[in-house]
Amino acid sequence: MGPRSVPLLPLLLALLGRPDPGRAESCDLQPVTAKPPVTLSYVTSTVPRGCVSNSSMGTGHEVHVLSAKWSKDSPVPLEVTVTPRAGVCSRLAVLVLFCTDCSAYIKSQCSNLIIHTDAHLIMDTVRASDPGPPMVSKREKLLDWAQDVYQGITSYSELQDPHKVRLHLGEDAHSPPVCIPQEHFNATLHLETEVLFHGMKGCSRSDAQSTRAAHIIQLQSELSSPITEVELKLKCPSNSVGDQMLILQSKANFTWRLFLECSIQLLVSGNYIMPFSPEMLRGEHLPDTEQDLIAKAFEKNCSVIASYSAIPASTHIIMKILEHETVETPVATTPLDTIQSQDLPRQVLQTLKPWKCTDETMEIVIIRSHLEPIKDVVNITLRDISCQAEKNATHFMLKSPLSHCGTSLEGRDYANNELILSLAKDAVLRSVRVGFQCEIPRELFLRLFPTADFKAPQTELEINKEVFVQASMRWMDHPADLQLKECSLSAAGREPVVLVRGGEAHGAGVAVLESPTSTHGRKVWRFRFTYTIPEGHKPFTTARLTCKAGLQNDTIFEKCLEVTVKDGWRPLNYRGLGLAAVLGITFGAFLIGALLTAGLWYIYSHTRPISKLQPVSSTAPASESSSTNHSIGSTQSTPCSTSSMA
Ligand SMILES: *[C@@H]1O[C@H](CO)[C@@H](O)[C@H](O)[C@H]1NC(C)=O
Ligand SMILES: *[C@@H]1O[C@H](CO)[C@@H](O)[C@H](O)[C@H]1NC(C)=O
Ligand SMILES: *[C@@H]1O[C@H](CO)[C@@H](O)[C@H](O)[C@H]1NC(C)=O
Ligand SMILES: *[C@@H]1O[C@H](CO)[C@@H](O)[C@H](O)[C@H]1NC(C)=O
Ligand SMILES: *[C@@H]1O[C@H](CO)[C@@H](O)[C@H](O)[C@H]1NC(C)=O
Ligand SMILES: *[C@@H]1O[C@H](CO)[C@@H](O)[C@H](O)[C@H]1NC(C)=O
Ligand SMILES: *[C@@H]1O[C@H](CO)[C@@H](O)[C@H](O)[C@H]1NC(C)=O
Repeated sequence: MGPRSVPLLPLLLALLGRPDPGRAESCDLQPVTAKPPVTLSYVTSTVPRGCVSNSSMGTGHEVHVLSAKWSKDSPVPLEVTVTPRAGVCSRLAVLVLFCTDCSAYIKSQCSNLIIHTDAHLIMDTVRASDPGPPMVSKREKLLDWAQDVYQGITSYSELQDPHKVRLHLGEDAHSPPVCIPQEHFNATLHLETEVLFHGMKGCSRSDAQSTRAAHIIQLQSELSSPITEVELKLKCPSNSVGDQMLILQSKANFTWRLFLECSIQLLVSGNYIMPFSPEMLRGEHLPDTEQDLIAKAFEKNCSVIASYSAIPASTHIIMKILEHETVETPVATTPLDTIQSQDLPRQVLQTLKPWKCTDETMEIVIIRSHLEPIKDVVNITLRDISCQAEKNATHFMLKSPLSHCGTSLEGRDYANNELILSLAKDAVLRSVRVGFQCEIPRELFLRLFPTADFKAPQTELEINKEVFVQASMRWMDHPADLQLKECSLSAAGREPVVLVRGGEAHGAGVAVLESPTSTHGRKVWRFRFTYTIPEGHKPFTTARLTCKAGLQNDTIFEKCLEVTVKDGWRPLNYRGLGLAAVLGITFGAFLIGALLTAGLWYIYSHTRPISKLQPVSSTAPASESSSTNHSIGSTQSTPCSTSSMA
């Protein structure tokens, strides 16, 4: 390994096919630009810049700001998973995702999430309110904007080349009072991110005698790093990757957990464990410099360093060997093709997760272009093949009640079924089954119906016409515990009018439609009312129906349904009531034969601080259509949604 003054020379010589006499044992690493042979991503909680603070604790919400950048076009949409602390979506959370028009999936089990983003949201897996993108022209202004709008920042993270982000909600009183970004910030408390590695290098030896290629991963860990174990997943397009070798270098007392999808020759420093190995295997000592590692690869008869990646210490690494590297390698096409075509649909569907459930329905919407990797999908059905997806030029769509199409509800919070894809290749029909679990959100569902048959929900309220309301929720633990506490209606800027409170109608002309029913852990309440507008009242076009259900303890589930008011200006000659305050609503009906004591209501209203409806719109004008219901203590609230999803 002599001095290398002309780094391009060996490469040129290699291209010319002539040996480089002076340097038979080495080659010069160059950045791999076109067609990298692998993709490599790793999980880290250290972000290039970031901070946390306790400044959001006095406000109505916690606020997490993500600013993402890519060094190249991101090959895949950014996937953001928002997880609540201790599994309970209690406090209202705001996610600001700024990424300059990237595309993203945002997933969360919490529906009380407000998302401000300029990303193209690919699939709306989260029922969240979206008050529009952050109003900033420059990335640098993002933090100031969020501070202005929300009066506090819980966490701020800049992300470079993220592929997936797992954001953990939660606030910490011990955080500093102000969020001042720091370089190389340890964001362990709030996030984990899988970032794509772009610093890959490679070279090939000039006197190439073999075609064996090496992939080298060097894990650079500082002495202070607490990480002592890394899980490495190697993904391969097919079982055989040809003559390739994987060299993994780390500190000597490091443990590698290896999950290899294909057989590849290994050289590991430290210890390593494979899924089926009974015990820890001892690796061998490997040098820790670039040149010595390359020499090691050559010693093992490799003549190409297909990829050399030096990455920071990480707990998870995902490496994928790409197809084009192995095209020359002859592969037995038939069996591999079958394996692939069984696996690929599963992988694609598990990534897309195109299913969405409510307490009553399952809905599947698949954008056809997302199925491109699986060729020739002709039709899609559920386990019961009579439930076939409708299709148009761009989508497959299927909607069914949870009680149909072979859906089983064994799991507490899941509906299970299978998607059966019919694939037609060369006039041969084949089917692939992909089982899935569809999460049924633990939330109250509100639906508005024009008729008493409670079919075909709508989100339109007609003046002077009866409407039928259904509130429902699955609560497997103790359905009897769950009571509907209050329903109210409000229009922009006005105090809400209570329709139902503590099992009693809160207005004239109330009729209970039926006692609350409870089947298979799902509880249903129904009532009806008529909406009238008093004379001289200003017209309005939208209103908001909000209901709360609660448990014996003070846990409250709150849901809001935004409705459009049809014929919103038809005054009725209506006198004699205190109408100005009441918006002129009369109620034709009301619910609940169940016992809900005033005492419980007393406990509820006295354990939960009452704060006023605080629309984000006071600071962000674009958010008029989405309310931000407060959520304090154990209240689980759902911002207004316009889709009834029934
Ligand atoms: C935030 O932290 C500061 C200093 O550590 C502390 O004085 C303040 O009380 C904290 N604020 C809250 C809301 O806990
Ligand atoms: C980051 O902080 C966590 C605690 O918040 C700590 O356990 C971890 O060791 C830190 N990571 C690094 C790389 O310093
Ligand atoms: C690992 O080895 C380094 C030196 O190589 C040493 O400083 C460190 O304490 C060791 N860590 C553990 C967990 O044994
Ligand atoms: C490398 O190749 C030579 C000659 O082809 C062979 O003798 C030697 O055993 C090989 N070494 C390894 C580590 O495969
Ligand atoms: C799928 O479509 C093909 C062709 O349109 C049809 O013959 C077949 O019956 C369909 N499969 C199911 C399960 O409906
Ligand atoms: C297909 O149906 C979906 C869902 O109803 C709709 O959004 C889409 O515009 C339709 N595409 C075409 C080409 O009609
Ligand atoms: C109320 O009870 C439910 C289940 O019965 C439980 O999951 C929840 O944590 C309880 N909440 C509080 C604040 O105790």
